[in-house]
Amino acid sequence: MDASFWQGRWKEGRLGWHEGRPNSLLEAHLGQLGKEKRVFVPLCGKSEDLAFLAERGHSVVGVELVPEGLRAFFAEHRMEPRVSRQGRFEKLEAGPITLLAGDVFDLTPHDLAGCDALYDRAAVIALPQATRVRYAAHLRTLMPKGSRGLVVTLEYPQDKMEGPPFSVSEAELRQLYRGLEVTPLEERPWESPKQREVGVAGLERCYLIRF
Ligand SMILES: C[S@@+](CC[C@H](N)C(=O)[O-])C[C@H]1O[C@@H](n2cnc3c(N)ncnc32)[C@H](O)[C@@H]1O
Repeated sequence: MDASFWQGRWKEGRLGWHEGRPNSLLEAHLGQLGKEKRVFVPLCGKSEDLAFLAERGHSVVGVELVPEGLRAFFAEHRMEPRVSRQGRFEKLEAGPITLLAGDVFDLTPHDLAGCDALYDRAAVIALPQATRVRYAAHLRTLMPKGSRGLVVTLEYPQDKMEGPPFSVSEAELRQLYRGLEVTPLEERPWESPKQREVGVAGLERCYLIRF
C-alpha cells in the first residue's frame, strides 16, 4: 500500500472504512485514557472520532497522508482551519483539533509535543504486516512513557479476504508492543460494508496499551 493507493481511494471517494459516527468501542472505553488529554490519532482520515474526542474535552493531533481528507473533515464540521507549515507537514488547526497532512513515518516526538494519549482505529490494521512492525516501533518512539492508548483492531480469517483492512490478532498486537502492558477490553462482531460485501465474519476488538 503505497501513497498512490490511498490517494486513489480518496480521489474516487472509496472510503468504506469511514463510519460517519463515533466508533462504538471508543464511546465505550474513552474513559480509559483519562481526562483532558492531548490525543494522537494516527492515520486519522476524516473520522468522526476526532470531533468526538474534542467534544469530550480532549485536544487532538491527527496525521493523515491525504490532505483532501483533512480539508473534508473541517468542511463537514463547518470549521475554518488556520493553515501553516510544520516541517514536512501542512498543519490545519481549529480549536482543540490540529491535523497534520503528511506521512506518519516522518513524525518526530517534537511534532507531537504534549501528546499524552493515543487512539488507533483503522490505523495499524490499514498497514501490511512488515509496515505494521515499523509503525509500532515508530509509535514507541513517539509516545511518552506511561501514556495510554486505545487500539481498535479487526480479526477475521485472512485467507478469506485481502486487506486492507488486515486482520491483526491479539498475539500479533502483543508482539508488536512486547514489553508493554496490553489489556483486551472488549470485542464485538465486525459489521461494515466490506464485511457484508465479502460475507466474512470477524471481530472488532479494543485494547488498552500502556507505553
Ligand atoms: C483505513 S483509513 C482509516 C481512517 C480513520 N482512522 C478512520 O477510522 O476513519 C486509513 C487512513 O490512513 C491514511 N494513511 C495511509 N498511510 C498513511 C501514512 N503513511 N501516513 C499517514 N496517513 C496514512 C490513508 O490515507 C487513510 O485515510
